[in-house]
Amino acid sequence: MKYKACLFDLDGVLVDTAVYHFQAWKILGKHFNFELSHEQNEELKGISRVESLDKILHWAHFQATQEQKGRWLKEKNETYLELISHMNPSEILPGVISFLDQLKEQGYLIALGSASKNAGIILEKTGLTTWFNAIIDGNVVTKSKPDPEVFLKGAEALGCPATACIVFEDAQAGIDAAKAGGMKVVGVGSPTILRGADKVISSFTELQVSELLLL
Ligand code: BG6
Ligand code: MG
Repeated sequence: MKYKACLFDLDGVLVDTAVYHFQAWKILGKHFNFELSHEQNEELKGISRVESLDKILHWAHFQATQEQKGRWLKEKNETYLELISHMNPSEILPGVISFLDQLKEQGYLIALGSASKNAGIILEKTGLTTWFNAIIDGNVVTKSKPDPEVFLKGAEALGCPATACIVFEDAQAGIDAAKAGGMKVVGVGSPTILRGADKVISSFTELQVSELLLL
């Protein structure tokens, strides 16, 4: 087999939690009179909570103290946890289960490569946990995407060389991370936004596992 493993980002690839992150940051922005735009939110995809707050404060031209930052990070996460508390399997994005099914049937290994520290909770709530041979999330990585660490750790956990891995990503930082790790990457989203992917799909309903061999 040309490829042995698929590594999935979580937010925006398997489930649409990007909308909850957006809402939670928007609510937090009220503390410093900042209205987050959709374009700015796009830049927050794939990057850690701490880096996201730093970017937002920069856009807001707000000089925050360490104490404020710590408090706001906690507050943003509490809002986010409240928003995701009602998640269930119906929020798995279209075509994902059928695609994972095909991968398992054809003997591919499957790993998660997410920047989120809440990945475990989301996988449990949506019933996705059992699909994964390895889970690498924001609790085990030290460097954020576009650094390839999260995907290299995933490949290592699966015992696969990077060249045998295909990454699925909705964020530019994630596509850059996969490429930096020497992996193939399928972008999930719009080809006008995502640059450098080997292929871009708008949904998993458009992709058959057999097509991966063309990458
Ligand atoms: C990524 C999201 O998956 O996880 C980012 O795309 C988010 O928007 C990051 O900031 C960290 O998530 P969390 O759940 O640890 O705050
Ligand atoms: Mg994502």
